[in-house]
Amino acid sequence: MTGARTIGWGTALPENIMTNADLEKIVDTSDEWIVERTGIRQRHIGGTTAGLATEAGRKALEKAGVDPSGIDLLILATTSPDRDIPATASTVQKNLGLECGAFDLNAACSGFVYAMVAGHGFIRSGLERILVIGAETLHQYIDWEDRNTCILFADGAGAAVIERTEGEGELLGWSLSSDGDYEEALYVDRGDKVKMAGREVFRQAVLVMERAGRAAMKQAGLEPSDISVVIPHQANIRIIEASCRRLGIPMEKAIVVLDRTGNTSAASVPLALAEALDTGRISEGDNVLLVGFGAGMSSAAAVLRWGAR
Ligand code: COA
Repeated sequence: MTGARTIGWGTALPENIMTNADLEKIVDTSDEWIVERTGIRQRHIGGTTAGLATEAGRKALEKAGVDPSGIDLLILATTSPDRDIPATASTVQKNLGLECGAFDLNAACSGFVYAMVAGHGFIRSGLERILVIGAETLHQYIDWEDRNTCILFADGAGAAVIERTEGEGELLGWSLSSDGDYEEALYVDRGDKVKMAGREVFRQAVLVMERAGRAAMKQAGLEPSDISVVIPHQANIRIIEASCRRLGIPMEKAIVVLDRTGNTSAASVPLALAEALDTGRISEGDNVLLVGFGAGMSSAAAVLRWGAR
């Protein structure tokens, strides 16, 4: 049996921090409203998707102790590429000196979990090591006059190196889904800014997070009580709380970084995963549930047994 496990991780955030107080100067809002309704206190804005992805990817390679020549594939989850053509993965591949295939994957905020599941599949099909990155510069899409959305979205990147292992590996169960009926709830037309029906997205998000999480746990043969740590998509603290409640997993097991990062779409799950690892919240043998949702409406979940060979 051939599986894969995560052997390195890294993150990148633009230097420029935008606080809720900064937003008060731009739109009719308040720090109190934003914190109460979303949990967000500040976000990082700036840079390019390739630049942030490169920084996070380089750190993940260093942590894994892997030379760029040891990577067989780069999957870059992003919904905010630097150009329409080519894929931003091409720029990242060049920057990092990788000698392998590289492609962008767009599943909106579910993108990193989609990419991790795809990466594990490629390893089952014969590859040795894969660099998986989630990176976004959502500032490209922000309408700074729309208080409904400009308070939410931000920039950042997170990366993971996964490596082949003889044995089942870390991925115990997964679920990917998409429901195009909700396309109009959150979209960006080419050259335009983000449009969002916030309440509708909120309602659906809670439902699909539960559905995806339960499906992945079922495939893994695990109960909610078996989950040690939840790495949810960082969109809104109230969505995370409601999803945990519905999943039957105590909120204390959820990793939250959105207070400092805002919603960084495909970068949010790897940013939270890296924080959990760097602060010792994940130990060998822990069952870790990654779960996200996003435009599309996409959703994805994966259960990883940390350190499994
Ligand atoms: N500051 C102050 N008031 C604001 C505001 C802001 N930034 N944004 C909206 N409001 C106002 C609204 O205009 C509305 O006023 P009204 O009652 O006079 O019309 C009031 O606050 C309540 O708006 P509502 O949309 O019901 O608020 P909410 O509690 O649903 O919170 C969101 C709005 C967007 C934070 C919330 O719906 C949400 O997070 N949705 C999911 C969005 C998401 O996750 N998108 C990314 C998916 S990957």
